[in-house]
Amino acid sequence: MNLYQAISKRKSCRAFSEKPLHQAKLREIGEVIEDFMTLYPDVTLKWRLAEKMKGPFKVKAPHYLIISGQGKAGEAESAGFIFQQLFLWFNLNGIGSVWLGGPKDVNKTVEDIVAMAFGEPKETIERTLSEFKRKPIEGITNSPDDPLIRAVHLAPSGINLQPWYLEKTDNKVLLYEKLLKPPISLMYKLTEVDMGIALCHYALACKEYNKPFNFKRSDEKGEKKGYKLFGELS
Ligand SMILES: Cc1cc2nc3c(=O)[nH]c(=O)nc-3n(C[C@H](O)[C@H](O)[C@H](O)COP(=O)(O)O)c2cc1C
Repeated sequence: MNLYQAISKRKSCRAFSEKPLHQAKLREIGEVIEDFMTLYPDVTLKWRLAEKMKGPFKVKAPHYLIISGQGKAGEAESAGFIFQQLFLWFNLNGIGSVWLGGPKDVNKTVEDIVAMAFGEPKETIERTLSEFKRKPIEGITNSPDDPLIRAVHLAPSGINLQPWYLEKTDNKVLLYEKLLKPPISLMYKLTEVDMGIALCHYALACKEYNKPFNFKRSDEKGEKKGYKLFGELS
């Protein structure tokens, strides 16, 4: 099984054994991260491991991975793009994980973006396609049979908001980000991470179907009501 195939099986894990993973496995995690695809060549992220986290919506786990940047543009979606590959790799290796938007590391010294809890799972980390709780695919695209878009349909997002819409035209796909409204917009600030996760699934599907993955970020408003244009895929 490869990372693409894990997309249609993976499931967030929120029950972990207290036993830490072997040191060798933790070292391997550091090595595989280096091999993952990046979204933008000029955006560099850092990550570190922690054994404890504090903050809301915390999940108790033996390990936490905290992703940080320097507060520059593009870092949030890069974090989603790179570390969703780790999530899928965890799944292939029998390791449970869940993205964590709320907690911040105890000794915060840098610009933390988002975290992940991971460890040996105490619940199943796989499911069948019919067990995914997602919007009907017609709610996220005008091209529901496109296998690249079907991979995005299964992507995880904070509070399962699925804040994306993919509009296929003759020669490109416009990727839109949903504009959140209060009260959700006041408490949830990670839609760019979600967009990066969606792009990760799209890119892995491109690889699987031997298609090029080209993404160009946009700051234009776009024409879809209730959304803003996030970028173009060609
Ligand atoms: C950016 C982000 C932040 C998240 N934050 C949390 C969190 O703080 N606590 C939690 O239990 N789940 C969190 N999740 C997990 C989502 O609730 C979960 O991915 C979504 O409900 C879909 O379920 P699935 O991952 O099993 O497909 C987060 C997911 C993402 C992508």
